[in-house]
Amino acid sequence: MAADFKRLVEDSREMTRRSFLAIVGWVGFTVASAIALFQSVKFIQPNATYEDPPAFKPVGELAFPTSYAVGSTTVLIDKRVVINRDQDGFYAISLICTHLGCTPRYFPDVTSDLVLAGTQISRDPDTGQLATKANPTLPGFKCPCHGSRYFRDADNFFGPAPRPMDRVHMELAKDGRLFIDRSIVVDHKFRLKV
Ligand code: FES
Repeated sequence: MAADFKRLVEDSREMTRRSFLAIVGWVGFTVASAIALFQSVKFIQPNATYEDPPAFKPVGELAFPTSYAVGSTTVLIDKRVVINRDQDGFYAISLICTHLGCTPRYFPDVTSDLVLAGTQISRDPDTGQLATKANPTLPGFKCPCHGSRYFRDADNFFGPAPRPMDRVHMELAKDGRLFIDRSIVVDHKFRLKV
């Protein structure tokens, strides 16, 4: 009788030990699975962003203001930015069509075909320039998607574009290089004086 009781106690201790080990095993398995799942999700959605940052400095010989002649238009097509230099300073244009967002292209003549076809073109509100039959050629941008056209200073004058292209912030960095931030839209009268 006493021997039976002793065996019963030992069996119940054995069961308790087994249960404990089983619980530890399951907890370990669950934690390991959770870690594996987390790592998988992290791998699918990495933290890195591959978007081009909005602020940048032109590189190479375009880094410094002295590289730009007065009256020049420089297209940085990979950045979708244009740098214009006039008598009164620099300004940067965001090269994004205000109709549906295509990338307009620069042409030394965006007006003469319209003028010669008899299309009335309004005067550039910023520069006061007017394309006429006597003087039909003005530089600017044409959008390849639906044909909008812009004067060199980004004012729209033809096609479905509802407004001028944006001008964006530009400054001279401490290292003497030009610095452009496409995330900051500035007034059309903005000029960087160097
Ligand atoms: S996106 Fe430029 S004209 Fe439509």
